[in-house]
Amino acid sequence: MTEMRSFEADLEYGVGEILVDEETLRSRVAELGAEVSADYRGRDLLLIGVLKGAVFFMADLMRHLTIPCEVDFMAISSYGDSTDSSGIVRILKDLDINIEGRDVLVVEDIIDSGLTLSYLMRNLESREPATLEVCALLTKPARRQIDVPVRYIGFEIPDRFVVGYGLDFAERYRNLPYVAVMSQDVGGDAL
Ligand code: IMP
Ligand code: MG
Repeated sequence: MTEMRSFEADLEYGVGEILVDEETLRSRVAELGAEVSADYRGRDLLLIGVLKGAVFFMADLMRHLTIPCEVDFMAISSYGDSTDSSGIVRILKDLDINIEGRDVLVVEDIIDSGLTLSYLMRNLESREPATLEVCALLTKPARRQIDVPVRYIGFEIPDRFVVGYGLDFAERYRNLPYVAVMSQDVGGDAL
């Protein structure tokens, strides 16, 4: 029988080098949870997850918090389907909770150009939270086009397109338990 590896059938089809493995993710997320718990003790913490990529990180981070917190989610989308951010952002799902006077921590999967986050921060700032900080699992400093202050960072990674642990390529690969680069042959020029 011939070995046919297809996009439909094989979870790891097109996945290249693993940049952050499962164990490394687990221990860093635990460290971040401890840091956030210490910093926000006695405060009124509200985590805001940015859908869909941050869901996995957020769920794991929360389990390492030793303080009470609430969660809410926002869905935003850059116009277009390219892997490059346009900076023009559309809110697809807004928050349910009023954040005025709250200690807000935005949980993001990855900061690339910074354009999406920069828009989001301006938008949230206008709702007058008591404090507003960011916790991002990954950042690609080489790609930054706009400076956004990020209080907690999981890992700095090189300028490569990555998938897994929430990150997608064309909506696939979010369920990989590690972060890996996409190989050239699947993404083509887009990567
Ligand atoms: P930015 O506006 O350029 O910072 O883009 C941020 C958003 O682009 C992230 O929240 C991701 O959804 C997506 N993104 C950026 N880089 C990657 C990547 O390497 N893999 C998957 N998604 C990415
Ligand atoms: Mg995405």
